[in-house]
Amino acid sequence: MSAAIQTAQQNPITRTIAADMEAVNAVIRQRLQSDVALVNQIAEYIISAGGKRIRPVLVLLLANAYGYRGAGHHELAAVVEFIHTATLLHDDVVDESSMRRGRQTANALFGNAASVLVGDYLYSRSFEMMTALDDMRIMRILSRATTVIAEGEVLQLLNMHDPDVTRENYLNVIRSKTAKLFEAAAQLGALVAGADDSRIEAAGEFGRSLGTAFQLIDDVLDYAGDASEIGKNVGDDLREGKPTLPLIYVMENGTPEQRELIRTCIEQGDETHFDAVLTAVQDSGALDYTRREAEAAARRAAAAIADLPDSEYKQSLLQLCSFAVDRNH
Ligand code: IPE
Ligand code: IPE
Ligand code: MG
Ligand code: MG
Repeated sequence: MSAAIQTAQQNPITRTIAADMEAVNAVIRQRLQSDVALVNQIAEYIISAGGKRIRPVLVLLLANAYGYRGAGHHELAAVVEFIHTATLLHDDVVDESSMRRGRQTANALFGNAASVLVGDYLYSRSFEMMTALDDMRIMRILSRATTVIAEGEVLQLLNMHDPDVTRENYLNVIRSKTAKLFEAAAQLGALVAGADDSRIEAAGEFGRSLGTAFQLIDDVLDYAGDASEIGKNVGDDLREGKPTLPLIYVMENGTPEQRELIRTCIEQGDETHFDAVLTAVQDSGALDYTRREAEAAARRAAAAIADLPDSEYKQSLLQLCSFAVDRNH
């Protein structure tokens, strides 16, 4: 799903919603406009770099799968992408990351202050757009989601350099920082289509599990990925001393030497030992294990929409489950 908008037509997952994706892109461009030049410049910089646009795709596919035939989901999909973009601007400052979407990060190019403030702008803009939709249920889902994302990022901050973080704690972080917005996007798609509460909940479970699979693989790619494919630096998590599942697994199951290496690297955030850590996460089976956990989450996602009537949109949602696990970007 690279360069999502331009290739929506060719991509099997987005082929059926290519026209919708184009409409969402138009909304994004239109709503991005600000009288303040630096806001335009930075927002345009990160948004035009593309990204996979998975969250808007979720809104659109779920809405279509539940029979929606209007155009109200375009604005919603744009709102969700704005929220996602705001979290990326903030996340790259917090993580001190220098590459995103194959480019320098906004913080590397424009500085931390500008990135944080434009992230705030995108959050505020998304809330303005959401209130214009004038539906309390939408506002409830999205305001809850942004609160939980922020909690997840703060929780993760507390976990930095702590080798004793449990897998429950880690799972709580990824459910909050990543899966929550996937859940909200899926629920909103079902909601806009007029689905009843139980179907909205099923959509939410789909998004939650898909988002969990997606972040588990993100954490694998931070070790085993190829920077030119993921468009981000490999090794960022280790440099930060971030206790993700591959490392937690080694500390539970590795040899005494492997455990000691990981423990020290988390405490010190030591990227100079990246090669040794990569060998440890590979040899101990930690990466395979994390991939299997992602597969299990993706299967839970697929099971959550088993009752949906068959359609090309449902097929795309199932393909999205496979993509979340098999992706290399
Ligand atoms: C990046 O999300 C943040 C995570 C939750 C891992 P994406 O991988 O969806 O980022 P873009 O939008 O495609 O760049
Ligand atoms: C992404 O977390 C979650 C949010 C942006 C809220 P990560 O820090 O793991 O994602 P990348 O690797 O920077 O995309
Ligand atoms: Mg990050
Ligand atoms: Mg990451």
